[in-house]
Amino acid sequence: MKALIPTAESTAGAGMNDATARIAEQPLVWHRTRPISCRVNGQQVGSIQVPIGLMMIDFLHEYLNLTGSRLGCGQGICHACVVILDHPDGSCEEVRTCITGAHFFDGKQVRTIEGHATRNAQGEVVEPSAIQQKFLEHFSFQCGYCTPGFVNAATILLEKLKQQPIARDQVESTIGAGLGQHICRCTGYVGYYAAVKDLVLNTPGLVKDVKV
Ligand code: FES
Ligand code: FES
Repeated sequence: MKALIPTAESTAGAGMNDATARIAEQPLVWHRTRPISCRVNGQQVGSIQVPIGLMMIDFLHEYLNLTGSRLGCGQGICHACVVILDHPDGSCEEVRTCITGAHFFDGKQVRTIEGHATRNAQGEVVEPSAIQQKFLEHFSFQCGYCTPGFVNAATILLEKLKQQPIARDQVESTIGAGLGQHICRCTGYVGYYAAVKDLVLNTPGLVKDVKV
């Protein structure tokens, strides 16, 4: 396809001055950048110059080569793209990276799906996290596209229960509240919910009136 923006050569004969020609030679897309630095999975990242408005999922994929966070809907609905944002007070929350700019995370601490399993010195996974293991045992996923989001959501839920154990009759509703915004197009959710319930009921200290 022919360039729609006039070039220096094409404008010279049309009587445009040099300044106009120079402007026409600018790239079609030009981004202003700002630095970002943050901690990702315990590692300091940056300072890196990235375009203002770059979404966090693109920062993870294109700048850090962390491609485990999934771009699903891209509109903040499916939650496949969530990461864990760790706050200085020890609390944490999910953040949807498809609708949150990378610069929101400047100076903050983030966990992605790549940070859950135990790795050896070569960076190879040697042991999945407890929730990853339970998802495997319960055959919780099919294509696995939604799984990183479910792992992050379930991890946050477990960490909250460690701080604030619940009663036995609150287990199902608490799991529903913790995972309920995550969409899975394959499995009908049963395997995910069963795995988390299994882990919650069999991890000491998460449910007040259950002895493990
Ligand atoms: S991809 Fe982010 S919420 Fe769906
Ligand atoms: S396992 Fe395929 S979308 Fe959830």
